[in-house]
Amino acid sequence: MTTYLETAQAIAREAGAIVTDFAHRNIGFELKGAYDLVTAADRASEQLIVERLRKTFPSHTVVAEEGGGHQGSSGYRWYVDPLDGTTNFAHGFPVYNVTLALEHAGQVIAGVVYDPTRDEMFAAERGSGAFLNGRPIHVTKTDRLEDSLAATGFPSRKRHQNVNIHFYYQLAMLSHGVRRPGAAAIDMAYVACGRLDLFWEFALNPWDMAAGSLLVEEAGGTVTDMHGARLDLRGPHVLADNGALHTETLTLFERIFSGESPVPLPQIK
Ligand code: IPD
Ligand code: CA
Ligand code: CA
Repeated sequence: MTTYLETAQAIAREAGAIVTDFAHRNIGFELKGAYDLVTAADRASEQLIVERLRKTFPSHTVVAEEGGGHQGSSGYRWYVDPLDGTTNFAHGFPVYNVTLALEHAGQVIAGVVYDPTRDEMFAAERGSGAFLNGRPIHVTKTDRLEDSLAATGFPSRKRHQNVNIHFYYQLAMLSHGVRRPGAAAIDMAYVACGRLDLFWEFALNPWDMAAGSLLVEEAGGTVTDMHGARLDLRGPHVLADNGALHTETLTLFERIFSGESPVPLPQIK
């Protein structure tokens, strides 16, 4: 394991302890958009992560969700989500995590997703596999959508413009079901370790999916955008799955993108 991954894990664990400490107190939340929440826990976690990264890797750029990052002089860039799943956290719904990932030469090379509620550390380095609490993890072998369990999410920002409900309905009808846990990095980590077969979402940010995309790839899965093109962390959507479901899912997505409704919606009588 390189210093990058070791450091990322140590920092995520420390930040997770801060988040857990806030969870035990009844802290409120603020709005940073019409429905987009932020809490003192997001800010405290981010402050710690950014400080630690700056101290350990002074030349690295840090891009952090709450704006606490800085520009470095080298080609290394960290993406930091100090608390992924803030809406869950603010309501006491225990599905959230701390996630950070390192990008270099256009590739994510190391990433972690730490779930402090279950003390689960998902970690991956490019070319070295993916791990949960030190044990290797792998995607499922499910090769038919009708046998799969999926997950997706609905970002708070511009939610009235989000077309995902069409995709949600079709996938829900054509699989064992679609979960909507509310923390994208955990959704992707769960694809990596086989608790889910696939995940897709519109309008995520790089810090939501950088670590998760590496975890899925290193666990043997496939990550692209929803048209099958190379994932752009700044792009409009992502599909992460076990690889065996990729073609079938993309084919279904193309039908939905073109306005088809393979399974018609029921009428309200
Ligand atoms: C959000 C969560 C959620 C996803 C949103 C993200 P945040 O991150 O990952 O599952 O649907 O798109 O913004 O705001 O809680 O860090
Ligand atoms: Ca997030
Ligand atoms: Ca966040």
